[in-house]
Amino acid sequence: MHTLRELEQLAAQIRTCRKCPLGRSRTHAVPGEGPANAEMMFIGEAPGYYEDQQGRPFVGASGRLLERLLAIIGLAREDVYITNVVKCRPPGNRDPLPAEIEACRPWLHQQIALIDPLVIVTLGRFSMAQFLPAHARITRVHGKPVVQQDGRVVVPMFHPAAALRNPNWMQSMESDFAQLPQLLEEMRHQRQNQNDDPPQQLSLF
Ligand code: URA
Repeated sequence: MHTLRELEQLAAQIRTCRKCPLGRSRTHAVPGEGPANAEMMFIGEAPGYYEDQQGRPFVGASGRLLERLLAIIGLAREDVYITNVVKCRPPGNRDPLPAEIEACRPWLHQQIALIDPLVIVTLGRFSMAQFLPAHARITRVHGKPVVQQDGRVVVPMFHPAAALRNPNWMQSMESDFAQLPQLLEEMRHQRQNQNDDPPQQLSLF
């Protein structure tokens, strides 16, 4: 089946999901949005107030920052896939609970499998924790690409809301973003060659 159709079917399932209590308190679930064949995927934490109202990811202040950072590297939000670890808003914007993250995890993993992005950018520690070991600290590892078993690369970054509060983290986010085009180019090469050559080391590591 066509990826777009499968992704739409998945989004429809997410919109009616009742696997955790957030399914009862949400206004709208927020499955995510972007091209079905996106090369880059951004994964945030959970929808906030505006996202819950509109059913779309990153439409508030954090979303405006994300759009500004994407523009620095010549991209628009329509060029990338944007989603969250948890698809429904935790009441009062509290942190998502472990059980909510666990219940939502299969949705995220199905999205990744369908879209098959080359680069995943995690925004904030909850998203980072889906891919990096529990001891990883975002202040140390942000901006450092980590190759996953499936050959994809994950780049942990601060959450835009954190960068909006802290000018140092804003600077870090800008320089972390600036590396993305080169990393993407390397990953394109890697994928192109993966059937012909043995796995190559990325020069960024
Ligand atoms: N913060 C997130 O983590 N995700 C959103 O969609 C919006 C704000």
